[in-house]
Amino acid sequence: MNASATSASSPSTPADASQDADAPDLSSLRVAVIGAGNMGGPVATCMIRAGVPGEQVLIVNSTPESSQRAADDLGARAADSREEALAGADVIVLGVKPYQIIDLLGEVGDAVGQDAVVLSLAAGVTLEAMENALPNGTAVVRAMPNTPIGIGEGVVALMSGSSVSAEQETLVRALFAEAGAVEEITEAQVHAVIGAAGSAPAFAYYAMEAMIEEAVRQGLKRPVATRLVAQTLRGAATMVLETGEHPAVLRSNVSSPGGTTVQGIAALDREGVRTGLAAAMEAAARSSKELSGE
Ligand SMILES: NC(=O)c1ccc[n+]([C@@H]2O[C@H](COP(=O)([O-])OP(=O)(O)OC[C@H]3O[C@@H](n4cnc5c(N)ncnc54)[C@H](OP(=O)(O)O)[C@@H]3O)[C@@H](O)[C@H]2O)c1
Repeated sequence: MNASATSASSPSTPADASQDADAPDLSSLRVAVIGAGNMGGPVATCMIRAGVPGEQVLIVNSTPESSQRAADDLGARAADSREEALAGADVIVLGVKPYQIIDLLGEVGDAVGQDAVVLSLAAGVTLEAMENALPNGTAVVRAMPNTPIGIGEGVVALMSGSSVSAEQETLVRALFAEAGAVEEITEAQVHAVIGAAGSAPAFAYYAMEAMIEEAVRQGLKRPVATRLVAQTLRGAATMVLETGEHPAVLRSNVSSPGGTTVQGIAALDREGVRTGLAAAMEAAARSSKELSGE
């Protein structure tokens, strides 16, 4: 591997990475992205933002035209073939659909360099299954990202296979330094992460949509309603992250006795919104377990 790395650490933010003198040098790293779609694309963007030169990020999609389109969009390079992308790749990102992963690994396994890290984004495909499909000792990491990583406001949960070194773990964290937040988890926790982060942007969009439409019904223009709701939710999330306070404390701070907010909260409780949110997360986690065959 071209990048040198030394230390693994706790959850990081972009600020951590930029201040870390031991951060790996990503400028000579070569990355192959097999499947730069809705998720592989933002992952490539993160890596380029983290410091991998775009011309060293080689994209392979299902057709040369699609590879070129994605590479142009991402500021990366389209590979002429899978072989070209894999030759000398330090990191191989698998952004294809879960059902394609094992067959793909069987096809490309021999072309994976000895020190390369295979980074799978696929839901439901275990580290063990991928390790079994690759030559012995191949370093495999699972990443469970969400789409806001493309704008530096996402979450990536990482799981390392049995052959991943501390240096490789540090490298992968550095590649996601511009993603938003990075968390290391066990594979058993991945289903909970899908409910809390992987599928959760869609839950947030659902809630925003409901709030915007009600604001419109009450007379606000849609663009104004959209800005008010989106900025308010961003502000609320930032308050939680920056104050470290439990959301219940922040909520109580803005709930005057007999005031407007407590009336709204009582309505949320009457309508079962808390139970509904928990049910949505539980359903996503259950579906993830089913995908894994658990
Ligand atoms: N979307 C999410 O929010 C999300 C979140 C977490 C994890 N994931 C995981 O990310 C992976 C991709 O999901 P996605 O939503 O990004 O799907 P997607 O948008 O359909 O992207 C799949 C990509 O794979 C490419 N592809 C298909 N067959 C290929 C082949 N034989 N060789 C090379 N490339 C090929 C496609 O290229 P063409 O466009 O040319 O067909 C496309 O770029 C899945 O494993 C999923 O579990 C997704």
